[in-house]
Amino acid sequence: MNVMQLTTGRSQSPPEWIPVADPGAETAVLRPALQEAIERVLSSGTYILGDEVAAFEQEWAAYLGLRHCVGTASGTDAIALALRAVGVGRNDEVVTVAHTAVATVAAIEVIGAIPVFVDIDPVTRCIDPDLIAGAVTSKTKAILPVHLYGQPAPMEPILAIAASYGIAVVEDCAQAHGAAIDERKVGTFGHAAAFSFYPTKNLGALGDGGAVVTTDSAVAQRLRELREYGWRERYVSHVPGVNSRLDELQAAVLRVKLPLLDQRNARRRSIADRYRQSIVCSDLIAPTRIPSTTHAMHLFVIECEDRPAFEESCHRHGIRTARHYPLPIHRQPAYAGRIRGGERLPMTERVADRIVTLPCFPDEREDHILRVCEQLRAWSNLPRHERQNRTAHSCLSMEG
Ligand SMILES: Cc1ncc(COP(=O)(O)O)c(C=O)c1O
Repeated sequence: MNVMQLTTGRSQSPPEWIPVADPGAETAVLRPALQEAIERVLSSGTYILGDEVAAFEQEWAAYLGLRHCVGTASGTDAIALALRAVGVGRNDEVVTVAHTAVATVAAIEVIGAIPVFVDIDPVTRCIDPDLIAGAVTSKTKAILPVHLYGQPAPMEPILAIAASYGIAVVEDCAQAHGAAIDERKVGTFGHAAAFSFYPTKNLGALGDGGAVVTTDSAVAQRLRELREYGWRERYVSHVPGVNSRLDELQAAVLRVKLPLLDQRNARRRSIADRYRQSIVCSDLIAPTRIPSTTHAMHLFVIECEDRPAFEESCHRHGIRTARHYPLPIHRQPAYAGRIRGGERLPMTERVADRIVTLPCFPDEREDHILRVCEQLRAWSNLPRHERQNRTAHSCLSMEG
């Protein structure tokens, strides 16, 4: 007997799993163009910092409306190098959030700087600008807002606070390619901004990759040195740098995908809208629409009163779910108890205990979208006591 039979008591085969993300589906759609791009790199004989990286850097900067883009080996490196390039160093404090990917905080620590946490605004689920000033000390050198899930953080108040203390702003845009505030793209507000091109991102490579963007020529120059051993000219290091270069193959792949980014983001938003319309009960909460912002909808994350029961019900219907992230950083074993601010983050705690990520990506099949909508509608229509019963008597899911 398979797990689904145990779950349903029926003998028919289980429905196909609907993944939370599916980079393979995008690759399948773009395969001929990707193969052509890869072939171009193979034939070029240059595999590191050649024409493809230079062209992608120029195209990504132009898309954002900025002057400089510097490719890096990952989004984590992009954050670390951006912080160094704007002047953050050992023992300097960087104000950020605990409700993010570990990478945000790992990047601060890898350069010897000290993360400090402030709570999130439960509506945007990004940093609460009203709490930043309370975390600033004489050691604070930067604010690192994260545009989480693709929702732009409130940049205007963040920039005002940074200006009043004379500190830098570095945006973590790893989940927000193409997101905007009043038509102005995220990544263009801070002194520098970091992007990740991890394969599941809205603009994803076929491996690791990242980039830092900036309008500041001096910051861009420092980044170019830092990413390659501190070289100003070949083999002569002027600062202690690292090896963190975007490679030619990944840049060529990103150049195929970039022209489709806006259209694919619009598709994500339209799927999200259909999910929203299917949620009609108060114990499932869809992400709030924030006026004047364009959500990149990297992840569709709802909040749920009765999370275990809802997840179990999704799994029973073949819908994979995720938690971004199951543990906020101040509760992760590597960070617990040692980061200032982590002792009081009530909104972070509340959101972290309720979030569920549902499948939402441009190549999601129509029948799968309908199944997710149906699940949201069916859950919404269950009488409240039934939903609670399901928590108490939760049975085996497809995953067991
Ligand atoms: C918010 C956030 N910051 C930083 C990163 C790091 O990016 P990468 O995986 O390319 O190092 C990620 C990616 O997972 C992320 O989601």
